[in-house]
Amino acid sequence: MNAPEPSAALPPARRWPAGPADLAPGARRIVEASPFSIGIFYVDGRYHAVRNHCPHEGAELCRGKLTGTNLPNDTPGTYEWGRDNLIIRCPWHQWEFDLETGRHLASDRCRVRVFRVIEENGALFVEA
Ligand code: FES
Repeated sequence: MNAPEPSAALPPARRWPAGPADLAPGARRIVEASPFSIGIFYVDGRYHAVRNHCPHEGAELCRGKLTGTNLPNDTPGTYEWGRDNLIIRCPWHQWEFDLETGRHLASDRCRVRVFRVIEENGALFVEA
């Protein structure tokens, strides 16, 4: 008996419609993509999609403030601000996550799920 092809064992990609591709710079949209609620953000000409659920205590993460963060550097006492609008701050207790990776800014062990955003014929789709 032959083993199945590895790709045959993978579940098919899941795709949800996410509305028209008309978000203004810095704008967001929250879409229901059962079983998820997902925030779509348009920052610097790119779409980002993040699960709308904070891993701390379950707040709607994507209703939080978009901000930036201090960039790492090797010079004590110096600070450089960057990544403007690429950090989402949870509205309940201010945990911060990177929109591109889903990583918590202070812990490599904590993250939120991020999704791929596809733009097709003026419409957005989120893919897992
Ligand atoms: S619920 Fe998000 S930081 Fe607490």
